[in-house]
Amino acid sequence: QTIPMIQIKDASKYVGQRVKIGAWLRHKRGSGKMAFLQLRDGSGFFQGVVAKADVPEDVFETAKELKQETSMYVYGVIHEDARSDFGYEIKIDQIEVIGESHDYPITPKEHGTEFLFDERHLYLRHIKPYATLKIRNTIIAATYEFFNKEGFIKLDAPLLTGSAPEGTTELFETDYFGQDAYLSQTGQLYAEAGAMAFSRVFTFGPAFRAEKSKTRRHLNEFWMIEPEMAFFHQEQSLELQERYVAFLIEKVLEENDQELDMLKRDKELLKSYTQLPFPRISYDDAIKLLQDNDFDVEWGVDFGSPEETFLANHFSKPVFVVNFPKAIKAFYMKRHPEREDVVISADLLAPEGYGEIIGGSERDTDYDYLKERIINDGLGVEEYQWYLDLRKYGSVPHSGFGLGLERMVTFVTGEEHIREAIPFPRTMNRLRP
Ligand code: 4AD
Ligand code: MG
Repeated sequence: QTIPMIQIKDASKYVGQRVKIGAWLRHKRGSGKMAFLQLRDGSGFFQGVVAKADVPEDVFETAKELKQETSMYVYGVIHEDARSDFGYEIKIDQIEVIGESHDYPITPKEHGTEFLFDERHLYLRHIKPYATLKIRNTIIAATYEFFNKEGFIKLDAPLLTGSAPEGTTELFETDYFGQDAYLSQTGQLYAEAGAMAFSRVFTFGPAFRAEKSKTRRHLNEFWMIEPEMAFFHQEQSLELQERYVAFLIEKVLEENDQELDMLKRDKELLKSYTQLPFPRISYDDAIKLLQDNDFDVEWGVDFGSPEETFLANHFSKPVFVVNFPKAIKAFYMKRHPEREDVVISADLLAPEGYGEIIGGSERDTDYDYLKERIINDGLGVEEYQWYLDLRKYGSVPHSGFGLGLERMVTFVTGEEHIREAIPFPRTMNRLRP
C-alpha cells in the first residue's frame, strides 16, 4: 500500500490518514516522554508529535537528536488540533533524516536586522519573510489577472538601454561592447511604443536606480509594473489605478488571511482602503494644506516623507496628488493646457507612512516640445529619436503609470522597511547574498 506524500497546506484533507511529508525542523521542545517538532515544508507550518510510548525506541531517539533545520521525511496520521495556530498536527511514527544541519545560525532568540540580512539566504525560511513573500506572490499573480481581464498584454522591456528617462544622476552604467549602456530605470518608453501597437500594455520587471538614499522606502533594484494605455486621458488612468490597487488589496485579503495574521496586519484597516474612489487633491491645494498645518514648504518643492505621510493620513486612504510642478517632473509628462508651470501627473500616496506607491502621468504628444525638453535635460536626442518617432506616426493621447511592487508589498503587509518586501534586497550597503 502506498502512503500519500502530501504538503502541510493540504493536511485538512487527510485527517485520520497516514501520510508522508518532506519537511524541515524549525525547532523542538519535549520531555522524556514526548517530542514536539515544529515543522515547515514551504507550503505551511505545523507540529509533529512523537510519543515515546507509541513508537519504536529508535524513532523517539532520532526525534530527540534532531537539530534546527534538519530535513526529513516524517510519517504519521493527521489529526485535528484546535489549540494550534495551524489547526492540524501529525502524530509521527517514523522519521527518515535526509540532510543534517549543525549550528544553524538563526536561533529562536532575537537577532539584529543586519545579521538577518547577512543570512538572508537562510532567513527566507522564517515566518516573517515567508508571509511577506507569499503576499508579494499574490500581488504579482493578481497583477497579471487584473490586466489580462482589462485587455492588456504584457510587453517585456529591455533591461540594458541607452536612455535615462528618469534623470541622469541615478544611473548604473555598464559597457556594452564599447558603447555606454545603463541598467534600465523604467520600461515606460518601450511601453509607450507598445501601447501604439497593442493599445493597452504593461511591463513588469526590475528597475535600477543608483540613488544614494538610505531610507526605509528605497531600494537600488526594485520591481515595477508599468501599464500604458492609448486613448486614455489622466482621469481614465486614475480610475484604472484605483481599481487596480483595490483589486490587489482584495486579493491579498482573500488569499493571505493566515499570512496577514502572522504579520499582525490590521485587516479591517486594509479593507477600508478598498473603498473607491480614492480622494484627489491638486499639488497646489496640497501645498496649502501642508502650510496650514505648519509644514515649512513652498510651491515648487518635491514632497519628502513627512509631507507624504501627512497628506495620506489626512484622508485616511490612499490619495492622488495631481498636477505637479513641471520643473520637478520627467520630460515626457503632458503640459497642462492652461498652466505653463504644471504637468498632468499624479502620484498615489499610501497612508500610514508608506509613501508614493504609484507615479504616473498623461504623456505629451508634441514632437517639437518633447525634442526641446530632451535637449534641455541634456539627454541626447539620437538616443530618443525612436521615442520621438511615436509622435510622428499616428500619435494619440495616452497615459500610463508605474507601481513600485515592493512599496505596495510593504504597504499591504505593514512592514517597517522595504528590504523585507524583496527576496534579496539591493541597497547602498548590500550586494550580497
Ligand atoms: O515615480 P517613478 O520614478 O516613475 C517612473 O519610473 C515612471 N516611468 C512610471 C510610469 O509612468 N510608467 O517610479 C514609479 C514608482 C514609485 O511610485 C515607487 O512606488 C517606485 O516606483 N519606486 C521605487 N521603489 C523602491 N525603491 C526606489 N528607489 C524607487 N523609486 C521608485
Ligand atoms: Mg515618482
